[in-house]
Amino acid sequence: MAQPKNDTFLRALRREAVEYTPVWLMRQAGRYLPEYCETRKRAGSFLQLCKSPSMACEVTLQPLARYDLDAAILFSDILTVPDAMGLGLYFSEGEGPRFERPLREEWAIRDLAPPDPHDHLRYVIDAVAEIRRALDNSVPLIGFSGSPFTLACYMVEGGGSSDFRTVKTMLYDRPDLLHHILKVNARAVTDYLNAQIEAGAQAVMLFDTWGGALSHRAYHEFSLAYLQEVVAGLIKTRDGEAIPSIVFTKGGGQWLESIAAIGCDAVGLDWTTDIGDARRRVGNKVALQGNLDPFSLFASPTAVAAEARRIVDAYGGGTGHVFNLGHGINQFTPPETVSVLVDTVHQYSRQINEG
Ligand code: CP3
Repeated sequence: MAQPKNDTFLRALRREAVEYTPVWLMRQAGRYLPEYCETRKRAGSFLQLCKSPSMACEVTLQPLARYDLDAAILFSDILTVPDAMGLGLYFSEGEGPRFERPLREEWAIRDLAPPDPHDHLRYVIDAVAEIRRALDNSVPLIGFSGSPFTLACYMVEGGGSSDFRTVKTMLYDRPDLLHHILKVNARAVTDYLNAQIEAGAQAVMLFDTWGGALSHRAYHEFSLAYLQEVVAGLIKTRDGEAIPSIVFTKGGGQWLESIAAIGCDAVGLDWTTDIGDARRRVGNKVALQGNLDPFSLFASPTAVAAEARRIVDAYGGGTGHVFNLGHGINQFTPPETVSVLVDTVHQYSRQINEG
């Protein structure tokens, strides 16, 4: 399969020359778009939307029709993997994701097995193939997964948590059990991402949303080690094209050097790190993706444009930066502001790169 016509995103990840800074947004398809809400209503629920390849394809393309984005991201969720392991995912209104059968008992943990992505996650793999056909090589498609540790948080807690009391109790009392879950998750995530790559994903991203909740020592032992295992097991090239990987630990700014050393091509930054300092710390080892505060998008267009230019300036021009938010876009974000952001990043970085 050919390289996309707009391959700026892939070139920035490979730290090759670019004319401008490419941009995409975490959760770019989502509830802030009225057309997303329409499709979701038609699907009946968020999970049914994820499980229908044709509707998942439709919402993946919606933000690309509105904005001049440089990449598409598969529409799905990180929790499809534990769902495929039999934990019973459901979403209750206003409560976020929950599992019917959280992973608490030793026997259930010992029984846990990585799902065959071509069986229980077939709908995701089919969506990837359908999205690639629909994109028709316009922009690259990003596949993704949760990190082994972030998935374990939801699996053990049984849903979201403000303090991670259950999973941290396991971490300190029964590290052997948590390591067992993480080992299974690492295998599951590797197989899942490789199946997405085989179906057409041109880059992959690992979301380690909760790694930043760990102590320094625990982060390295329970999150980073398994991210490294996944990255080592990923398919590196397909049909002669390199498949770059991006690792994002929210709240992981203090561990940038360690993250950059695990073999990934890019590191995601939330908004708490200065991207210029981050660039100096990782050197030419990896590209950087981020780091606009998603809540800056509630300010006036003038303020949003100024903040976008500030980040482009802080990075310092040239290649190796993929502009993004520091976390997912909020559901109440005004859609018009996103145009201002995308166009400012493109125009301003073009000026800087032309020097
Ligand atoms: O980036 C994209 O556009 C791709 C789609 C995507 C979704 N979830 C769609 C989604 C991606 C990459 C995710 C990842 C995800 N899901 C993460 C990691 C990134 C992060 O945000 O930290 C996590 C922790 C989840 C788990 C999850 N899924 C939560 C906590 C929620 C509820 C969030 C909320 O705002 O209520 C979801 C649901 C979800 N996943 C939505 C979307 C668009 C909202 C569902 C809806 O339509 O109601």
